[in-house]
Amino acid sequence: MPKSNKILIFDTTLRDGEQSPGASLTPEQKLTIAEQLARLNVDIIEAGYPASSDGEIEAIREICKRVKKPIITGLARTIKNDIDCCLKALEKASKPRVHIFCATSKIHLKYKLKKAKEGILKLTADNIKYAKRFIDDIEFSPEDATRTDFDFLVEIVKTAIAAGATTINIPDTVGCIFPSQFSELIDNLKRAVCFDNVNLSVHCHNDLGLAVANSLAAVRSGANQIECTINGIGERAGNAALEEIVMNIKLHQEIFKRTTNIKTEGLHKISRLVSHLTGIPVQPNKAIIGSNAFAHEAGIHQDGVLKKRATYEIIDPRDVGVEESRLVLGKHSGSHALEEHLKKMGYHLTKNEFGKFFVRFKQIADKKKEVFDEDLEIILDEVKKRIPQIYQLEYIHISSGNKTVPTATIKLKKGKEILEDSACGDGPIDACYKAVERIVGIKGKLLNYSLQAITSGKDALGEVTIKVQFGDKIITARGASTDIIEASAKAYLEAVNRLQAASPVRNPLAIQEELSQFR
Ligand code: KIV
Ligand code: ZN
Repeated sequence: MPKSNKILIFDTTLRDGEQSPGASLTPEQKLTIAEQLARLNVDIIEAGYPASSDGEIEAIREICKRVKKPIITGLARTIKNDIDCCLKALEKASKPRVHIFCATSKIHLKYKLKKAKEGILKLTADNIKYAKRFIDDIEFSPEDATRTDFDFLVEIVKTAIAAGATTINIPDTVGCIFPSQFSELIDNLKRAVCFDNVNLSVHCHNDLGLAVANSLAAVRSGANQIECTINGIGERAGNAALEEIVMNIKLHQEIFKRTTNIKTEGLHKISRLVSHLTGIPVQPNKAIIGSNAFAHEAGIHQDGVLKKRATYEIIDPRDVGVEESRLVLGKHSGSHALEEHLKKMGYHLTKNEFGKFFVRFKQIADKKKEVFDEDLEIILDEVKKRIPQIYQLEYIHISSGNKTVPTATIKLKKGKEILEDSACGDGPIDACYKAVERIVGIKGKLLNYSLQAITSGKDALGEVTIKVQFGDKIITARGASTDIIEASAKAYLEAVNRLQAASPVRNPLAIQEELSQFR
């Protein structure tokens, strides 16, 4: 193997990755991904399978014109036309490589190619020699190598090297091998074949979820190139995920003692780009780049991470391009995490305020999966008394339906006093507002009402914003709750409270007079 302490990263997102069901990319999208792969510093980009269409040839030609640092390769069967298409696609590449493959397992020979071993050896030798007339850098893959009879595998690999292959790639095409078996296979191959001047590569599929483990096992046995894809996309269950391969090598230097050229800070960005352009979402719990990879939900974990990040994180999120860890605020969150989060939002609460805040937070967290900053702002409104709390909503009961008159019963707290009344209305919200008006003795005219989900999901907090006219005063107010009727009532009450705060002294007779209009 050429002497180097680098493990070469061969990215096949644009070829095997694009073979993911439904993942086809336009030429512009392929170019965008290729440019970002170059920024990530991959060593080789497999840009596609040129013989598949003229459009594919054009797309690869464009990549070759624009992306100069990595080696660019295209895939070809052991067919002269495939190699010609590949050469045409790679014409403008500054570092071109042709990747030729031919199936070698008994099952593929018998049912797919319907050829004997001798025919396969000849095809391989002839086509590599043909390509070698035009290009020096040639990779050969014995497809389904892990199910190929070992002696035949050795024979075909020797044939390929003799014909001019400079990289031999061992694919676990159907993802069937186990790491210790793959390690042994690579060890045995190295004993049987001289790889002094030839790269030894592996290409693992993820049918049993072992693609990364198998690739890493092969590297431990001496492979110096790994074929992989961003987000692990690829045929069927996908390929080995580049981000997982690279971070394992980086974090386990005591084992690998070799590095890759990848600029890991770009991993998150390219993962999002590939997911966006292919339309294949990344599962939240995906290692390294999943949205939960640096999110902590349990109070004990949050407390640990706040005291020392490394208690629950083995990767610094900035190392893979994530700005910072995320403490998910929900029912499992503890007071430490919540207090820290509030500080980050710029709020410092007294002990007493925080006590109230925490109680309210837990009530909301019990109703919602995740509590967002917007939710916290609303709790802050209440706790910090950013809006005067002359009347507080104690209880609300609505009876409504398509065959009943909507009725609302409301209990409000004013100081130590509990005030209660009921009213009917055109709808449940109207009934609510009328009940509030009967209690507080003020009649307003609703000028505007809007409802907005301010957080996501079925359990989102709904925020109601209203504009109410009280005499010559127009007041805007809002209320939020997971229940939209309650949010509406809170909004109205806030309007009343604002009005009371602005003109607190009121004539009781005037109130009685106003009240009598709608009793
Ligand atoms: O999985 C496979 O065997 C392949 C080869 C063409 C390398 O993708
Ligand atoms: Zn493959």
